[in-house]
Amino acid sequence: MNKSSFSSGISRRRFLAATGLAVTVPTIIPASALGQDGRKSPSERVVVGVVGWGMQGPGNTNELLGINDAQVVAACDLDKNHLQQALDKINGRYKNQDCKSYHDYREMMARKDIDAVMIAVPDNWHALVATEAANNKKDIYGEKPLARTIAEQQAIVKAVQDNKRIWQTGSWQRSQGPFRKAAEIVRNGLIGKLTRVEVGLPSNHHDFAKTAPELLAKFPGAPRNPEYLAKVVPDSPDWKIAVTPPPPELDYERWIGPARMEPYIKARVHMNWRWNYNIGGGQLLDWIGHHCDIAHWGMDMDNNGPSEIEGKGEFPPADAIWNTCGKYRITLKYPEDITMTIAGGYSDIQDGTKWIGTEGWVYVNRGKYDASNIDWFVKIPEDRYKVKLYQTKSHMQNFIDCVKSRQPTITPVETAHHSAIPGHLGLISMLVGRKIKWDVTKEVILDDPEATKLLTRPYREPWKLA
Ligand SMILES: NC(=O)c1ccc[n+]([C@@H]2O[C@H](COP(=O)([O-])OP(=O)(O)OC[C@H]3O[C@@H](n4cnc5c(N)ncnc54)[C@H](O)[C@@H]3O)[C@@H](O)[C@H]2O)c1
Repeated sequence: MNKSSFSSGISRRRFLAATGLAVTVPTIIPASALGQDGRKSPSERVVVGVVGWGMQGPGNTNELLGINDAQVVAACDLDKNHLQQALDKINGRYKNQDCKSYHDYREMMARKDIDAVMIAVPDNWHALVATEAANNKKDIYGEKPLARTIAEQQAIVKAVQDNKRIWQTGSWQRSQGPFRKAAEIVRNGLIGKLTRVEVGLPSNHHDFAKTAPELLAKFPGAPRNPEYLAKVVPDSPDWKIAVTPPPPELDYERWIGPARMEPYIKARVHMNWRWNYNIGGGQLLDWIGHHCDIAHWGMDMDNNGPSEIEGKGEFPPADAIWNTCGKYRITLKYPEDITMTIAGGYSDIQDGTKWIGTEGWVYVNRGKYDASNIDWFVKIPEDRYKVKLYQTKSHMQNFIDCVKSRQPTITPVETAHHSAIPGHLGLISMLVGRKIKWDVTKEVILDDPEATKLLTRPYREPWKLA
């Protein structure tokens, strides 16, 4: 897509015609390229590159491939097998061989013909890839949580704002009816004055990559429970078995990127990087961009946040293969005397989001919703339905529509930033072992230099966050 066509409202084809540059189209151009197969013509399509083909990248890309006015032309990954799968999928969809492959996202971002990118890489890479994209004037569909640290999130927000980019976050729950309806019930005051919010997230670890059984089978006498990986520490016999050379298809050095170099252990790389703080943030940060995002929507806190945060967690040894907190409970103080509890592994806090007010309550999760008056989900009484929240049919279509209209998406970058901050601050509070105070406007931790240091992380050379 020609960027100027969106800013001026004139498509490339009309521009060429208007300037007399339009030429007779040779007959060898396929009908699909001319938009005669029911798809938009190329000049009207948003040209997209995708970065990261692991668990989430293929799903996001599949949605893009189903959108008439988007065309995926480039894919980037550090794992040759994953990259090949991306090419096969994308070229298979368009029945051509046009998708270009990239190992270095910077080369892809430098392409002037790419309008937008979808980024689904592990958290250690979010900030570098997203800021590079924004600085190269790409619009961005980026995954949650916004980044691995609050400082990185601030850098992304700034790059997106400075470059006037459209941003959509992968917090797709906002595009689902029941989540919106639950937030609207709260925003229209049906539960009275909001006093308390509960955000229930998963606990422990989940072997998404299914790499644990193979490894556990090699450990003499070890239980076959994947949680055992949260007990295996350096220099133990099991650790020595777990460390292997990286496979030839993966550029592991680049995969570690700005994080600390660590020995390769398959069970903490693809998908399971979440369970080691070197790359990810455990269940808390994996899910905060979903259920806390929805909590904030109902609370009208998309650009606001907590002032006091106190977290307690149970951590494996800091150098274990999986070292992220298994069970955690965080209490947060919000404006207007609202308290929030974010918890994983506590039976009194249900998975999902629950808002409790002076006159009722509402609960929502994937595939479930409930309320003190369930009729609210059927119909909010017309006389009380003053706040109607942003409604979309498809999260990805909303991104593409906004790239064209230059209007904000349903989950812009500032929203993603604020949705993840309670998780980051909760983790920091757990790590320093005390309550911390947060200045929402200045975005600084007050009177606590040790906690303040954890707002950022050192970058491994040569990577630098601009
Ligand atoms: N919105 C959702 O529901 C949802 C669900 C799952 C994951 N996610 C998010 O998607 C992101 C990716 O998670 P995942 O589970 O797909 O991870 P994954 O490990 O399965 O896949 C990540 C892919 O990125 C590649 N990669 C890593 N660094 C790269 C770089 N610098 N350049 C190019 N490619 C690189 C890896 O080789 C891998 O193929 C995370 O932010 C995660 O939180 C979102």
